[in-house]
Amino acid sequence: MGFSKPLPLFSFLSILVLYFSLYTITPTSSSASLQDQFINCVKRNTHVSFPLEKTFFAPTKNVSMFSQVLESTAQNLRFLAKSMPKPGFIFRPIHESQVQASIICSKKLSIHFRVRSGGHDFEALSYVSRIEKPFILLDLSKLRQINIDIEDTSAWVQPGATLGELYYRIAEKSKNHGFPAGVCTSVGIGGYMTGGGYGSLMRKFGLAGDNVLDIKMVDANGKLLDRTAMGEDLFWAIRGGGGASFGIILEWKIKLVPVPETLTVFTVTKTLEQDARLKIISKWQQIASKLIEELHIRVELRAIGNNGNKTLTMSYKGQFLGEKGTLMKVMKKAFPELGLTQEDCIEMSWIETTLFGGGFATGSPIEVLLQLKSPLGKGYFKATSDFVKEPIPALGLIGLFKRLIKEDAPFLNWTPYGGMMAKIPESEIPFPHRNGTLFKILYQTNWPESDKRPSRHINWIKDMYSYMTPYVSSNPRQAYVNYRDLDFGQNEKNSKVNFIEAKIWGAKYFKDNFNRLVRIKTKVDPDNFFRHEQSIPTMPVRS
Ligand SMILES: Cc1cc2nc3c(=O)[nH]c(=O)nc-3n(C[C@H](O)[C@H](O)[C@H](O)COP(=O)(O)OP(=O)(O)OC[C@H]3O[C@@H](n4cnc5c(N)ncnc54)[C@H](O)[C@@H]3O)c2cc1C
Ligand SMILES: *[C@@H]1O[C@H](CO)[C@@H](O)[C@H](O)[C@H]1NC(C)=O
Ligand SMILES: *[C@@H]1O[C@H](CO)[C@@H](O)[C@H](O)[C@H]1NC(C)=O
Ligand SMILES: *[C@@H]1O[C@H](CO)[C@@H](O)[C@H](O)[C@H]1NC(C)=O
Repeated sequence: MGFSKPLPLFSFLSILVLYFSLYTITPTSSSASLQDQFINCVKRNTHVSFPLEKTFFAPTKNVSMFSQVLESTAQNLRFLAKSMPKPGFIFRPIHESQVQASIICSKKLSIHFRVRSGGHDFEALSYVSRIEKPFILLDLSKLRQINIDIEDTSAWVQPGATLGELYYRIAEKSKNHGFPAGVCTSVGIGGYMTGGGYGSLMRKFGLAGDNVLDIKMVDANGKLLDRTAMGEDLFWAIRGGGGASFGIILEWKIKLVPVPETLTVFTVTKTLEQDARLKIISKWQQIASKLIEELHIRVELRAIGNNGNKTLTMSYKGQFLGEKGTLMKVMKKAFPELGLTQEDCIEMSWIETTLFGGGFATGSPIEVLLQLKSPLGKGYFKATSDFVKEPIPALGLIGLFKRLIKEDAPFLNWTPYGGMMAKIPESEIPFPHRNGTLFKILYQTNWPESDKRPSRHINWIKDMYSYMTPYVSSNPRQAYVNYRDLDFGQNEKNSKVNFIEAKIWGAKYFKDNFNRLVRIKTKVDPDNFFRHEQSIPTMPVRS
């Protein structure tokens, strides 16, 4: 050793310096002036004035206010840690023209930005950039208007609105209309719709993305486009091709769907001991995707109990578009193994089912849908997804259950497909998981802030994912884009989009639709202005 090699130490130091300059926010005068340039530019490009104290948040101005706004909608608390890259500042526009202005100004000033609507992204792509620094955050939470037109059975919805607010506004106008959207009511329309968006009406009406009539979007040139102006290719791409790859969506025009005045819901929970011979769970796998479209039964699996005395619960959560009596008849015939009783069934209106599904206490006033917090709530978690095409055999289930019982707070959600989902062609929108899918698995594991070894939980998911390989879809092994998982691979920097690698996660999320998404991306955003760790890449340039 000795002194003969000074170079490694030097490069080690420079890497260290680089590391710290990348991972800490240094309130330099140049970044402050960039912010002023941005503000002045936005002012010049909007006709609606905005009070700075309510729209601009920077750590250099008021750290506590900045953190408050940054944290406001962030769901996965892992990504608020000190070590995570933070935006240089946050702009929270109060008018659509300011979104347009933001794009024009970001482009002009070469500022990388992230756009956030409801903040539920599993990997925090909407407010953490791992690949580009500095970056700013465009927070759309003040753009949350909802205009319901019952006569036209449609609605215009801004991206900052939550699913709960949308449900509430529909129910305010009509008892006979609904929208097939998600379970967790705090999810933002902005991100939700871009990935397809599923929920308990999907077997009857398909995805939220299957029920879109028009879109208002700002493209990479800051131009405002509607469906006619953007053309059918781009309109196709943004109904399921994932968030923040093609533009910023300012409004969705959605088609409302008919719902009866009385629906029925139930929850029947079985412990592993109560289903020791796996008769119920096996039958569910066979029939859940073949039931009549009005009936949706998902299963939630959890580990309960403490050390040495742990077991598993399987909660069958049903929602039926109809009355109790009819449901009982359907269940007796199709799924007697569950042993559903009249007492398990609760009749309610569609809006009440959204509270029930969303985890609110029974009897809660429907106004809770307007609160921005959901009982399903924030936390530290890692999650991923799979699609199942053949029932998992008993042996496979046993290994799966063993792994579940080992983990502290695992959560699996099995969502049945079939019905309308199987009737819509794979290429109708970018979301390709259609006919032949029995159910989707969400794997999730949660831990408290105090947990000193989060890597243990992340490894648990990895092990589970690997274990499940023989039992789930393959070539490609499919995954849901709204359940982003960066373990599938990611883009490096703008200049280093690894197309070969992108094809791996691209095929998982979109199957063959990925190729069309890449073609459209190359056409509408050739400079890759809208980019993130898993944005749709442009076609590699031939040299
Ligand atoms: C607790 C919980 C429950 C969930 N339940 C469901 C469910 O029932 N059904 C379901 O389908 N999914 C569900 N999801 C997944 C959810 O659909 C996605 O996380 C979705 O992307 C969240 O949208 P958001 O606006 O809240 O998130 P954000 O984090 O704000 O955005 C997600 C992505 O979309 C981009 N984006 C946001 N706004 C826009 C815009 N206006 N224009 C273009 N791109 C934009 C962001 O940059 C980011 O890449 C759930 C997630 C969580 C955490
Ligand atoms: C900073 O923001 C907090 C709210 O988070 C507010 O109470 C405080 O007065 C602000 N401080 C200054 C100096 O403006
Ligand atoms: C084990 O857990 C079950 C269910 O949680 C409970 O009913 C039972 O009493 C527990 N047994 C012991 C020995 O703690
Ligand atoms: C769905 O796939 C099955 C075979 O897996 C086929 O028999 C059926 O016709 C398909 N349905 C539609 C609507 O494509």
